[in-house]
Amino acid sequence: MSLDDRRTDFPALRERPEGTTPVYLDSACMSLVPQSVIDAMEEYYRDFPGCGGRSLHRFAEEVGRRYEASRTAFARRLGRSDPHSIVFLRNSTEAINLVAQGLAWKPGERVLISDREHNSNLIVWQRLVKERGIRIEILPLSDSGEFDSEALEERLGRGIRLLSLFQTSNLDGQSLPVREITERAHDHGALVLFDGCQAAPHEPLELDRLGVDFYAVSGHKMLGPTGTGILAASPGPLATLRPLVVGGETVEWSTLTDHELRPPPFRFEAGLQNYAGVIGAGAAIAYLARLDPHEMRAREVELNRRFTDAMADEPRVHLLGPTDPARRPSIAAFTLAGVDAHDAALFLDEGYHVMVRSGRHCVHSWYAERGIPGNVRASFYLYNGTADVDALIAGVRELLERVPLSGTSAATTGSSPRRASGPRRAAGSRGAAVRSARPRHRGGRGRAGSAGGSD
Ligand code: ALA
Repeated sequence: MSLDDRRTDFPALRERPEGTTPVYLDSACMSLVPQSVIDAMEEYYRDFPGCGGRSLHRFAEEVGRRYEASRTAFARRLGRSDPHSIVFLRNSTEAINLVAQGLAWKPGERVLISDREHNSNLIVWQRLVKERGIRIEILPLSDSGEFDSEALEERLGRGIRLLSLFQTSNLDGQSLPVREITERAHDHGALVLFDGCQAAPHEPLELDRLGVDFYAVSGHKMLGPTGTGILAASPGPLATLRPLVVGGETVEWSTLTDHELRPPPFRFEAGLQNYAGVIGAGAAIAYLARLDPHEMRAREVELNRRFTDAMADEPRVHLLGPTDPARRPSIAAFTLAGVDAHDAALFLDEGYHVMVRSGRHCVHSWYAERGIPGNVRASFYLYNGTADVDALIAGVRELLERVPLSGTSAATTGSSPRRASGPRRAAGSRGAAVRSARPRHRGGRGRAGSAGGSD
């Protein structure tokens, strides 16, 4: 399937009446959905809008069949042989919370996280420190992406009950060695939980073979609808978790005084479920299954390299993470000296229809440690092409040209990490200058070639 064919599968990428086409470089936050996913959800509401697992009529039967087919599709994609190891939840945050709050912790037991975890894999642990007396150990990671096995061994030697780490960082795109970490953890009798949000959209996994105990993903980052999260767990560890929510469909029976929980995964899926969403997420997996992951990865590396190489001539641009884009294929995160990250994002959106994310990317702790208020992040996915990257390059170049470097910079010095609070804020140290520097061009994708120098 050519890129152009693929792009037409995504209605959000269509040319708009004013002749512009969105340049979507924010898939690490949320991916776009193909028409087949929209169709699958619409079909549910149009053709069989019943509730699953309860009634016996034909709508209910069809819902149940399709819902369980999605479970099987996720199991296959993630490399779990038993579909019952897949729990449907709202998002990966809920999946991590289920593990964190579902394990029976004793005071003093330790969880190991890295120094750059998303808030979804940090806040819940901080709460458990207060509420159950657990301890958090931090694994420092290198900004260049080299993994320090000795540092891991040293932490494991302190007696860790669970390692809870990203597989691929949403901050700088670096990936951790899942197999090595899992083996070392198991050698020390520890469980492992990986946040697979930024990894699973890009490659099929082999969780059973790797022995990963718990794995969390969000459907909305892998072509699925919002409100779909998955915990993919090994049967033994899954059975030890206490459900976060109980109620309808979670029990075999109940009396006025007692009940018996159903086996996993059903005990974790309380109440009426997001049937349309889960069925849509199943259609997303079917779409992904038709693509060659090696070709997808090669394209992401190519796009990231195109941007990285172009920025090599821009001394005011500093890319985060590993130098080689092949080690952070889907993410190009960067600061712009003299330009506030939110201002830059607004400029790119307004002038070039380039959508990126700016700020601290829900990893506030990392920015707080370094006193950096935030950065810009472009993320690439299967529907992006070179024209998207060229629009980004043109936008960044014009921005740097229009906002000369002078004095101090919020983007590089960071007077306070708490300053950049809202995504639409446009008030960095150079904010006024950026706002007055109206982009020359409002072309969007397909017109980037004429953007940089035209007036
Ligand atoms: N984790 C999502 C991101 O990094 C929200 O954009």
